[in-house]
Amino acid sequence: MKADPLPIEGIDYVEVYVGNAKQASYFYQKGFGFAPVAYSGPETGVKDKTSYLMQQGDMRLLLTSALVPDHPIARFVLTHGDGVADIALRVKDVEWTYKEAVKRGAKGIRDPTVLKDNSGYLKGCAISAYGDTVHTFIERDQYRGVFAPGFTPIKGKADPVGLQKVDHVVANVEEGKMEYWVEFYGKVFGFSQLISFDDKDISTEYSALRSKVVHNSSSTVKFPINEPAPGRRKSQIQEYLDYFKGAGVQHLAIATNDLVFTVTHLQQRGIEFLNTPDSYYEGLTKRVSGMSEKIEDLKKLRILVDKDEKGYMLQIFTKPLQDRPTLFFELIQRKGSESFGKGNFKALFESIEQEQARRGNL
Ligand code: FE2
Repeated sequence: MKADPLPIEGIDYVEVYVGNAKQASYFYQKGFGFAPVAYSGPETGVKDKTSYLMQQGDMRLLLTSALVPDHPIARFVLTHGDGVADIALRVKDVEWTYKEAVKRGAKGIRDPTVLKDNSGYLKGCAISAYGDTVHTFIERDQYRGVFAPGFTPIKGKADPVGLQKVDHVVANVEEGKMEYWVEFYGKVFGFSQLISFDDKDISTEYSALRSKVVHNSSSTVKFPINEPAPGRRKSQIQEYLDYFKGAGVQHLAIATNDLVFTVTHLQQRGIEFLNTPDSYYEGLTKRVSGMSEKIEDLKKLRILVDKDEKGYMLQIFTKPLQDRPTLFFELIQRKGSESFGKGNFKALFESIEQEQARRGNL
Protein backbone atom coordinates (compact mmCIF):
# COMPACT_ATOMS: atom_id res chain seq x y z
CA MET A 1 0.00 0.00 0.00
CA LYS A 2 1.39 3.37 -1.00
CA ALA A 3 0.39 6.63 0.68
CA ASP A 4 0.94 10.22 -0.50
CA PRO A 5 4.68 10.89 -0.37
CA LEU A 6 6.14 12.68 2.66
CA PRO A 7 7.96 15.87 1.55
CA ILE A 8 11.43 14.28 1.67
CA GLU A 9 14.11 16.12 -0.33
CA GLY A 10 17.06 13.81 0.23
CA ILE A 11 19.53 12.38 2.71
CA ASP A 12 20.85 15.14 4.97
CA TYR A 13 23.50 13.08 6.78
CA VAL A 14 24.19 9.54 7.99
CA GLU A 15 25.16 9.17 11.65
CA VAL A 16 27.37 6.29 12.72
CA TYR A 17 27.74 5.47 16.41
CA VAL A 18 31.29 4.35 17.10
CA GLY A 19 33.41 3.37 20.08
CA ASN A 20 35.96 6.11 19.51
CA ALA A 21 34.85 8.99 17.27
CA LYS A 22 38.23 10.72 17.44
CA GLN A 23 40.01 7.70 15.96
CA ALA A 24 37.19 6.88 13.53
CA SER A 25 37.33 10.43 12.13
CA TYR A 26 41.04 9.93 11.39
CA PHE A 27 40.25 6.69 9.51
CA TYR A 28 37.55 8.28 7.34
CA GLN A 29 39.73 11.36 6.78
CA LYS A 30 43.00 9.63 5.89
CA GLY A 31 41.48 6.48 4.43
CA PHE A 32 38.50 7.81 2.47
CA GLY A 33 39.32 11.51 2.04
CA PHE A 34 36.45 12.98 4.08
CA ALA A 35 37.15 16.48 5.44
CA PRO A 36 36.37 17.06 9.12
CA VAL A 37 34.15 20.15 9.03
CA ALA A 38 32.42 20.41 12.41
CA TYR A 39 32.79 19.18 15.97
CA SER A 40 30.58 19.01 19.01
CA GLY A 41 31.54 17.89 22.52
CA PRO A 42 32.39 19.25 25.97
CA GLU A 43 34.21 22.26 24.45
CA THR A 44 30.98 23.30 22.70
CA GLY A 45 28.76 22.68 25.73
CA VAL A 46 27.78 19.05 24.99
CA LYS A 47 28.78 17.01 28.02
CA ASP A 48 27.75 13.43 27.27
CA LYS A 49 28.91 12.78 23.68
CA THR A 50 31.29 13.93 20.96
CA SER A 51 30.52 14.16 17.25
CA TYR A 52 32.73 14.80 14.21
CA LEU A 53 31.00 15.82 10.99
CA MET A 54 32.93 14.53 7.97
CA GLN A 55 32.14 15.75 4.46
CA GLN A 56 33.11 14.88 0.89
CA GLY A 57 31.12 16.24 -2.05
CA ASP A 58 27.53 16.36 -0.82
CA MET A 59 27.90 13.39 1.51
CA ARG A 60 27.94 14.04 5.24
CA LEU A 61 28.98 11.38 7.69
CA LEU A 62 28.46 12.14 11.39
CA LEU A 63 30.62 10.07 13.77
CA THR A 64 29.42 10.04 17.37
CA SER A 65 30.66 8.45 20.61
CA ALA A 66 29.28 8.50 24.15
CA LEU A 67 31.44 9.99 26.91
CA VAL A 68 29.69 8.16 29.74
CA PRO A 69 28.89 4.45 30.17
CA ASP A 70 25.18 4.67 30.93
CA HIS A 71 24.15 6.27 27.65
CA PRO A 72 21.99 5.11 24.71
CA ILE A 73 24.98 5.53 22.35
CA ALA A 74 27.22 3.43 24.61
CA ARG A 75 24.51 0.76 24.77
CA PHE A 76 24.10 0.82 20.96
CA VAL A 77 27.84 0.28 20.46
CA LEU A 78 27.97 -2.42 23.15
CA THR A 79 25.20 -4.34 21.36
CA HIS A 80 25.81 -3.65 17.69
CA GLY A 81 29.42 -2.54 17.47
CA ASP A 82 30.11 0.51 15.30
CA GLY A 83 27.17 0.99 12.97
CA VAL A 84 24.68 3.33 11.33
CA ALA A 85 22.25 4.70 13.90
CA ASP A 86 20.47 7.41 11.90
CA ILE A 87 19.70 8.02 8.24
CA ALA A 88 18.66 11.66 8.52
CA LEU A 89 16.28 12.96 5.86
CA ARG A 90 15.82 16.59 4.89
CA VAL A 91 12.15 17.59 4.74
CA LYS A 92 10.15 20.71 3.95
CA ASP A 93 8.02 20.81 7.11
CA VAL A 94 9.13 18.92 10.23
CA GLU A 95 5.93 19.35 12.27
CA TRP A 96 3.63 18.22 9.46
CA THR A 97 5.93 15.32 8.45
CA TYR A 98 6.16 14.05 12.02
CA LYS A 99 2.43 14.25 12.66
CA GLU A 100 1.68 12.55 9.36
CA ALA A 101 4.31 9.79 9.80
CA VAL A 102 3.02 8.94 13.29
CA LYS A 103 -0.58 9.00 12.05
CA ARG A 104 0.41 6.49 9.36
CA GLY A 105 1.88 4.11 11.93
CA ALA A 106 5.51 5.21 12.53
CA LYS A 107 6.79 5.13 16.10
CA GLY A 108 7.84 8.64 17.12
CA ILE A 109 10.96 8.77 19.27
CA ARG A 110 11.74 12.49 19.35
CA ASP A 111 9.03 15.11 19.08
CA PRO A 112 9.70 18.13 16.85
CA THR A 113 12.13 20.55 18.52
CA VAL A 114 13.65 23.84 17.45
CA LEU A 115 17.40 24.36 17.98
CA LYS A 116 18.72 27.92 17.84
CA ASP A 117 22.00 29.81 17.88
CA ASN A 118 23.44 32.96 16.27
CA SER A 119 23.25 31.34 12.83
CA GLY A 120 19.49 30.84 12.89
CA TYR A 121 17.39 27.86 13.78
CA LEU A 122 16.74 24.35 12.60
CA LYS A 123 13.97 21.92 13.35
CA GLY A 124 14.25 18.21 13.91
CA CYS A 125 12.39 15.12 15.13
CA ALA A 126 12.89 11.37 14.79
CA ILE A 127 10.97 8.17 14.14
CA SER A 128 12.18 4.62 14.50
CA ALA A 129 12.96 2.28 11.59
CA TYR A 130 14.28 -1.33 11.43
CA GLY A 131 16.22 -2.58 14.47
CA ASP A 132 17.68 0.33 16.44
CA THR A 133 18.00 2.48 13.31
CA VAL A 134 16.16 5.81 13.28
CA HIS A 135 15.27 8.49 10.75
CA THR A 136 15.74 12.05 11.89
CA PHE A 137 13.65 14.50 9.87
CA ILE A 138 15.45 17.81 9.59
CA GLU A 139 14.43 21.22 8.26
CA ARG A 140 17.37 23.57 7.80
CA ASP A 141 16.17 26.36 5.47
CA GLN A 142 16.55 28.92 8.26
CA TYR A 143 20.01 27.79 9.41
CA ARG A 144 23.27 29.25 8.08
CA GLY A 145 25.74 27.67 10.52
CA VAL A 146 28.23 24.90 9.75
CA PHE A 147 25.84 22.06 10.69
CA ALA A 148 23.68 22.52 13.78
CA PRO A 149 23.64 24.41 17.08
CA GLY A 150 26.22 22.85 19.42
CA PHE A 151 28.71 22.37 16.55
CA THR A 152 31.78 24.47 15.88
CA PRO A 153 33.59 24.56 12.52
CA ILE A 154 36.89 22.69 12.32
CA LYS A 155 39.44 22.87 9.56
CA GLY A 156 41.04 19.53 8.90
CA LYS A 157 42.97 18.78 5.75
CA ALA A 158 41.46 16.29 3.38
CA ASP A 159 42.60 14.70 0.18
CA PRO A 160 39.30 13.83 -1.53
CA VAL A 161 38.98 10.75 -3.75
CA GLY A 162 35.94 11.94 -5.72
CA LEU A 163 33.09 10.74 -3.49
CA GLN A 164 29.99 12.80 -4.30
CA LYS A 165 26.85 11.66 -2.51
CA VAL A 166 25.00 8.72 -1.03
CA ASP A 167 23.50 6.65 -3.86
CA HIS A 168 21.59 4.17 -1.70
CA VAL A 169 21.45 2.80 1.86
CA VAL A 170 20.89 -0.92 2.29
CA ALA A 171 19.08 -2.55 5.21
CA ASN A 172 19.49 -6.14 6.36
CA VAL A 173 16.36 -7.32 8.18
CA GLU A 174 15.34 -10.65 9.75
CA GLU A 175 14.01 -13.52 7.63
CA GLY A 176 10.34 -12.91 6.87
CA LYS A 177 10.58 -9.16 7.65
CA MET A 178 11.49 -7.74 4.23
CA GLU A 179 7.87 -7.39 3.14
CA TYR A 180 6.97 -5.72 6.46
CA TRP A 181 9.59 -2.99 5.92
CA VAL A 182 8.74 -2.53 2.23
CA GLU A 183 5.15 -1.94 3.35
CA PHE A 184 6.32 0.37 6.14
CA TYR A 185 8.15 2.63 3.66
CA GLY A 186 5.15 2.49 1.32
CA LYS A 187 2.53 3.20 3.96
CA VAL A 188 4.43 5.75 6.06
CA PHE A 189 6.77 7.45 3.54
CA GLY A 190 4.79 6.94 0.33
CA PHE A 191 7.85 5.26 -1.23
CA SER A 192 7.24 3.01 -4.21
CA GLN A 193 8.95 -0.24 -5.08
CA LEU A 194 11.67 0.11 -7.69
CA ILE A 195 12.98 -3.44 -8.12
CA SER A 196 12.58 -6.85 -6.55
CA PHE A 197 15.05 -9.75 -6.50
CA ASP A 198 14.09 -13.20 -5.26
CA ASP A 199 16.34 -15.97 -4.04
CA LYS A 200 16.65 -17.36 -7.58
CA ASP A 201 18.24 -14.06 -8.64
CA ILE A 202 20.49 -13.87 -5.60
CA SER A 203 21.85 -17.25 -4.74
CA THR A 204 25.10 -19.12 -4.95
CA GLU A 205 25.84 -22.79 -4.45
CA TYR A 206 25.63 -22.17 -0.70
CA SER A 207 23.37 -19.35 0.34
CA ALA A 208 20.62 -17.02 -0.71
CA LEU A 209 18.86 -13.76 0.02
CA ARG A 210 15.89 -11.73 -1.15
CA SER A 211 15.89 -8.01 -1.80
CA LYS A 212 13.44 -5.24 -2.70
CA VAL A 213 14.29 -1.62 -3.38
CA VAL A 214 12.03 1.26 -2.31
CA HIS A 215 12.54 4.90 -3.26
CA ASN A 216 10.98 8.34 -3.10
CA SER A 217 9.39 9.87 -6.19
CA SER A 218 12.48 11.90 -7.18
CA SER A 219 14.70 8.86 -6.42
CA THR A 220 17.01 10.98 -4.24
CA VAL A 221 16.46 8.36 -1.52
CA LYS A 222 16.83 4.67 -2.39
CA PHE A 223 16.60 1.94 0.24
CA PRO A 224 17.22 -1.66 -0.80
CA ILE A 225 15.97 -4.05 1.92
CA ASN A 226 17.49 -7.55 2.19
CA GLU A 227 16.42 -10.62 4.13
CA PRO A 228 18.15 -14.00 4.37
CA ALA A 229 16.69 -16.92 2.42
CA PRO A 230 17.20 -20.59 3.22
CA GLY A 231 20.18 -22.21 1.46
CA ARG A 232 22.58 -25.08 1.96
CA ARG A 233 24.68 -22.95 4.29
CA LYS A 234 24.24 -19.79 6.36
CA SER A 235 23.15 -16.72 4.36
CA GLN A 236 25.57 -13.78 4.43
CA ILE A 237 22.59 -11.70 5.62
CA GLN A 238 22.16 -14.06 8.58
CA GLU A 239 25.86 -13.70 9.42
CA TYR A 240 25.34 -9.92 9.51
CA LEU A 241 22.24 -10.25 11.73
CA ASP A 242 24.13 -12.56 14.12
CA TYR A 243 27.03 -10.12 14.50
CA PHE A 244 24.99 -6.92 14.51
CA LYS A 245 22.47 -8.47 16.91
CA GLY A 246 19.49 -7.59 14.79
CA ALA A 247 18.46 -5.57 11.75
CA GLY A 248 20.60 -2.67 10.62
CA VAL A 249 22.38 -0.93 7.77
CA GLN A 250 24.51 -3.33 5.72
CA HIS A 251 26.13 -0.85 3.35
CA LEU A 252 26.22 2.72 2.20
CA ALA A 253 26.66 3.07 -1.55
CA ILE A 254 28.57 6.24 -2.42
CA ALA A 255 28.56 7.74 -5.90
CA THR A 256 31.72 8.90 -7.67
CA ASN A 257 32.12 10.18 -11.24
CA ASP A 258 35.44 8.39 -11.78
CA LEU A 259 35.56 5.04 -10.05
CA VAL A 260 38.96 4.12 -11.53
CA PHE A 261 40.45 7.28 -9.98
CA THR A 262 38.61 6.72 -6.68
CA VAL A 263 39.64 3.09 -6.26
CA THR A 264 43.24 3.72 -7.36
CA HIS A 265 43.62 6.30 -4.59
CA LEU A 266 41.76 4.30 -1.95
CA GLN A 267 43.96 1.26 -2.61
CA GLN A 268 47.09 3.41 -2.26
CA ARG A 269 45.76 4.44 1.15
CA GLY A 270 45.32 0.83 2.24
CA ILE A 271 41.54 0.53 1.95
CA GLU A 272 40.69 -3.13 1.40
CA PHE A 273 38.17 -4.33 -1.17
CA LEU A 274 36.46 -7.62 -1.91
CA ASN A 275 38.29 -9.61 -4.52
CA THR A 276 36.86 -10.61 -7.90
CA PRO A 277 38.11 -13.72 -9.71
CA ASP A 278 40.10 -13.27 -12.96
CA SER A 279 37.42 -15.27 -14.77
CA TYR A 280 34.94 -12.41 -14.20
CA TYR A 281 36.86 -10.28 -16.74
CA GLU A 282 36.81 -12.92 -19.47
CA GLY A 283 34.15 -11.90 -21.96
CA LEU A 284 33.24 -8.76 -19.98
CA THR A 285 33.48 -6.53 -23.07
CA LYS A 286 31.00 -8.88 -24.79
CA ARG A 287 28.58 -8.75 -21.84
CA VAL A 288 28.81 -4.94 -21.57
CA SER A 289 29.65 -3.11 -24.78
CA GLY A 290 30.72 0.50 -25.28
CA MET A 291 32.60 1.01 -22.01
CA SER A 292 34.97 3.98 -22.00
CA GLU A 293 37.16 2.44 -19.27
CA LYS A 294 40.11 0.21 -20.11
CA ILE A 295 39.43 -3.40 -19.26
CA GLU A 296 42.99 -3.73 -17.84
CA ASP A 297 42.23 -0.95 -15.35
CA LEU A 298 38.98 -2.58 -14.27
CA LYS A 299 40.69 -5.96 -13.90
CA LYS A 300 43.66 -4.54 -12.01
CA LEU A 301 41.36 -2.74 -9.56
CA ARG A 302 38.79 -5.60 -9.39
CA ILE A 303 35.94 -3.25 -10.41
CA LEU A 304 32.60 -4.88 -11.33
CA VAL A 305 30.41 -3.76 -14.25
CA ASP A 306 26.69 -4.19 -14.87
CA LYS A 307 24.22 -2.84 -17.42
CA ASP A 308 20.55 -2.31 -18.00
CA GLU A 309 18.58 -0.90 -20.93
CA LYS A 310 19.62 2.66 -19.98
CA GLY A 311 23.38 2.23 -19.77
CA TYR A 312 26.03 0.68 -17.57
CA MET A 313 27.46 1.12 -14.10
CA LEU A 314 30.73 0.36 -12.29
CA GLN A 315 30.82 -0.78 -8.68
CA ILE A 316 33.12 -2.21 -6.02
CA PHE A 317 32.67 -3.18 -2.38
CA THR A 318 34.99 -2.60 0.56
CA LYS A 319 35.62 -5.17 3.23
CA PRO A 320 33.81 -4.43 6.54
CA LEU A 321 34.85 -1.07 8.01
CA GLN A 322 35.17 -2.37 11.59
CA ASP A 323 36.01 -5.66 13.30
CA ARG A 324 32.50 -7.08 13.19
CA PRO A 325 31.60 -8.18 9.62
CA THR A 326 28.72 -5.70 9.45
CA LEU A 327 28.83 -2.23 7.82
CA PHE A 328 30.74 -1.72 4.55
CA PHE A 329 30.84 0.79 1.68
CA GLU A 330 29.97 0.30 -1.96
CA LEU A 331 31.49 2.75 -4.43
CA ILE A 332 29.44 3.23 -7.56
CA GLN A 333 29.68 5.14 -10.82
CA ARG A 334 26.49 5.26 -12.86
CA LYS A 335 26.81 5.74 -16.60
CA GLY A 336 23.12 5.83 -17.39
CA SER A 337 22.25 2.60 -15.63
CA GLU A 338 19.85 2.56 -12.70
CA SER A 339 20.87 -1.00 -11.83
CA PHE A 340 21.89 -2.27 -8.41
CA GLY A 341 24.32 -4.75 -9.95
CA LYS A 342 22.09 -7.76 -10.50
CA GLY A 343 24.56 -9.14 -13.07
CA ASN A 344 27.26 -9.07 -10.39
CA PHE A 345 25.37 -10.66 -7.54
CA LYS A 346 26.82 -14.11 -8.10
CA ALA A 347 30.45 -12.97 -8.37
CA LEU A 348 30.01 -10.60 -5.45
CA PHE A 349 28.33 -13.09 -3.16
CA GLU A 350 30.89 -15.77 -3.88
CA SER A 351 33.52 -13.27 -2.86
CA ILE A 352 31.63 -12.40 0.35
CA GLU A 353 31.26 -16.11 1.07
CA GLN A 354 35.01 -16.66 0.77
CA GLU A 355 35.43 -14.05 3.52
CA GLN A 356 32.56 -15.61 5.52
CA ALA A 357 34.25 -19.04 5.28
CA ARG A 358 37.53 -17.53 6.55
CA ARG A 359 35.58 -16.39 9.63
CA GLY A 360 34.25 -19.94 10.09
CA ASN A 361 30.63 -18.94 9.46
CA LEU A 362 29.76 -20.66 6.19
FE1 FE2 B 1 24.38 -1.59 -3.11
